[in-house]
Amino acid sequence: MASAPATILFVGDVVGGIGRRTLLGLLPVLRERHDPTFVVVNGENSAGGLGITPKIADELFAAGVDVITLGNHTYHRREIIRYLDTHKEILRPANYLRSQPGHGSCVVERDGVRLGVVNLSGNVFLNAGRAAFPEVDAALHDLRGKVDHVLVDFHAEATSEKVAMGWHLDGRVTAMVGTHTHVPTADGRVLPGGTAYITDVGMTGPRGGVIGVDREQAVRGFVTHMREPFETSDDDPWLMGVLIRATQPLRADAIEQLLLPAAR
Ligand SMILES: [Fe+2]
Ligand SMILES: [Fe+2]
Repeated sequence: MASAPATILFVGDVVGGIGRRTLLGLLPVLRERHDPTFVVVNGENSAGGLGITPKIADELFAAGVDVITLGNHTYHRREIIRYLDTHKEILRPANYLRSQPGHGSCVVERDGVRLGVVNLSGNVFLNAGRAAFPEVDAALHDLRGKVDHVLVDFHAEATSEKVAMGWHLDGRVTAMVGTHTHVPTADGRVLPGGTAYITDVGMTGPRGGVIGVDREQAVRGFVTHMREPFETSDDDPWLMGVLIRATQPLRADAIEQLLLPAAR
């Protein structure tokens, strides 16, 4: 079998300006340390905690991010809508309605290696117009013969749905990483068929908040049961990601979790 060496750095949901600064501050360090072939970042919270703007997407691409994935906050900022149709390397979930702006997969090439990226939304507790499991099969069918590796970002709430998707994809993609909960799980491993898997990568943002939100506001909401204004916390920012190493097409050798405090 032909070799297709690749190292994929995937970074979990970047939350607000604090998350962006954390990512941009650590990216040069991570590049030097791990020499990633591809950098894929979930940016669904990168604009003030909700959504993404064209300016922020441009900033991430300029910093060397190859592909931006999104999730349930994709359309929060109206100004991104046209950008989603005009820029190939920013993805919204592939199982959204066909009528919704944007697209769910793309292919990028670096050093002669082609990486397909598929963004996908869970159907449990999240609003996606089409079913994740058959739609990922359709997306993989479309990528067949055009890629050396495939990374799936499954943006989903329920751990069971993500674990099931891992088994569904095992042996057919290089990696399936879960996002959305903003809390990293400790189950990163290469499944028996060769797919690197983790239920949730976590977020790149303030660990001192409540999944990104200022902790006093969030706690007050739980205490009072009244709707509170939510602002992004800036307390204790960390980068949370994974590094996937591969040598053979559509097979991972290793997945390593990266949990790093912001560079000071
Ligand atoms: Fe998120
Ligand atoms: Fe989300």
